[in-house]
Amino acid sequence: MIKNFLIACILLTIVTIALLGFQGQRRQVTAIEFFGDMKRQSKFRFQKPSSFFADGRAARPPVDGTIPMGYDIPGHPFQNSEVPKDDINSPLGEFSAGTDYFNTGKMGDQWGTGLPLPVTTELLRRGQKEFTINCAVCHGATGQGNGITSKYGLLGIANYHQDKYRQMADGQIFNTITHGFNTMMAYADKVTVKDRWAIIAYIRVLQKSQNARIEDVPPDQRGALENEGKQQNMPEQKPPGSSPEPQTQPKQAR
Ligand code: HEC
Repeated sequence: MIKNFLIACILLTIVTIALLGFQGQRRQVTAIEFFGDMKRQSKFRFQKPSSFFADGRAARPPVDGTIPMGYDIPGHPFQNSEVPKDDINSPLGEFSAGTDYFNTGKMGDQWGTGLPLPVTTELLRRGQKEFTINCAVCHGATGQGNGITSKYGLLGIANYHQDKYRQMADGQIFNTITHGFNTMMAYADKVTVKDRWAIIAYIRVLQKSQNARIEDVPPDQRGALENEGKQQNMPEQKPPGSSPEPQTQPKQAR
């Protein structure tokens, strides 16, 4: 019984090897395909004609208005290096070129600080626009880290109003925009260098908006601001005899 079984096994092995060959063996005849191989699939070959599209080409031209990223195409100066770098409203601008502070945020091997562009209302408006487009989805319109993505489970978004970020060097923020940081992706190919600085200027505005001191206001304008504040904070006049609001905590003397 066992003898017959062994003979059957040996015969089966011989037949199998005769039909399929040894593993790794080169064969001249077409291999048997039990399932269709992935190399056979419906596709267009590169630069080949096709009757599927009206223009007879399989390759599709880029969508109108597509801008090449990160390099200049001769004759199509979309990211023209000749655009003055402080022309903040021009959509033209470079992504990353050069190793200076303007392009890297580094001074030597340290993060530098200070904005390398003139800080004008225009620059801040541009920064606000770019921030709203690129950053607000996560960091929130006021920079509190409560953008829409935080409602869908993105955790740990930086809140710019923490001291850590108030004190962070401009160059380091520049680097975060360029290269990303942990779960935050890089914006090197989306936000031009000058727009990164415009965004940083706007982040500083957001920070100041939540943490300003009277000393930050030019001395000749402090008086006006203080008067305005007094008027707004004036307690509402209540007719005598009306019951006062319950106070759970004693008012702190300021
Ligand atoms: C998809 C969500 C998302 C977007 C969009 C986004 N960020 Fe962030 N960002 C994060 C998260 C998450 C962190 C926290 C990363 C960490 O600390 O691990 C972060 C951290 C930062 C930090 C602090 C980095 C550090 O060194 O601690 C800065 C500064 C920052 N983002 C600026 C920006 C700017 C400017 C933009 C727009 C150009 C932007 N982010 C767009 C998610 C985002």
